[in-house]
Amino acid sequence: MRLIGSATVTFLVPTTAARSQSTQILTRPIPHTGEALPVVGLGTAVNFEAAGDPATQVQLAAVLEALVGGGGKLVDTASSYGAAEDVLGSLITQASLRPRLFLATKLEAHEIAEGQPALQRSLQRLKTDRLDLLMLHNVRRPDESLATLRSWQAAGTVRYVGISTSSTRAFEAVEAVMQREKPDFVEVNYSLDDREAEARVIPTAADLGIGVIIDLPFGRGRLFRAVRGRQLPDWAADFDARSWAQFFLKYLIGNPALRVKPDR
Ligand SMILES: NC(=O)c1ccc[n+]([C@@H]2O[C@H](COP(=O)([O-])OP(=O)(O)OC[C@H]3O[C@@H](n4cnc5c(N)ncnc54)[C@H](OP(=O)(O)O)[C@@H]3O)[C@@H](O)[C@H]2O)c1
Repeated sequence: MRLIGSATVTFLVPTTAARSQSTQILTRPIPHTGEALPVVGLGTAVNFEAAGDPATQVQLAAVLEALVGGGGKLVDTASSYGAAEDVLGSLITQASLRPRLFLATKLEAHEIAEGQPALQRSLQRLKTDRLDLLMLHNVRRPDESLATLRSWQAAGTVRYVGISTSSTRAFEAVEAVMQREKPDFVEVNYSLDDREAEARVIPTAADLGIGVIIDLPFGRGRLFRAVRGRQLPDWAADFDARSWAQFFLKYLIGNPALRVKPDR
């Protein structure tokens, strides 16, 4: 498993255990199609948000190259992450990486209500004509609809549709939308110190065959602060964890509810 050192990490955990050799990145199939995706991806909140500084651009380009070089594919951004879509689009174009990525972005409900202009804005910033995944960002109400995203999916501009949250308070609404809309993906906050998703959103995803993307896998850095100055326990070697980052991610990846069978 390859970890993305200095960047934010979005940890993809769709479903079904895939066999992997220790030298290869672990993949899991997207439940609705069986398409394999590497389980570790790259999030772009904060670190990709500021445009302009050339030294930072060089570092971010190196992060993307490390992701792809290590066998990763998923990059997850959002229209609301400052200049992140634009920054990402430029870096992807400069390195000709688009065909090697699974590119995900998110729009807020009020943006989706604008219709095509909102979609075109994200496509333009990301410098692509097709998104691999588009999510309704920050679901707050149980009646939020995916109808517009579905129409873009039917037109072929978006391959998969999803919903996202990073707030446990929204889980009831998120589960209601999951039950009614059956999106391809749900993105949810889940970390070793934030485990409500084990009880509520992840089991629902398993029941409905919805792929799971995890945000805040390190709990906004809380996990690293909690172990500051402490050595990894010897028993971490039993599951091949060689750093605290691997330790924290392997906890998430080991959740058996994230190993259900794909639809086909
Ligand atoms: N609704 C949504 O879609 C949503 C909402 C919120 C967040 N997210 C995503 O979730 C991610 C943020 O997750 P997070 O805050 O849990 O983690 P993170 O941003 O990847 O990491 C948090 C902090 O932990 C430290 N760190 C990270 N990787 C490390 C490593 N390998 N070794 C040592 N220290 C490391 C860094 O602290 P220092 O900088 O101090 O070194 C880093 O700033 C972002 O990618 C964001 O895009 C998505």
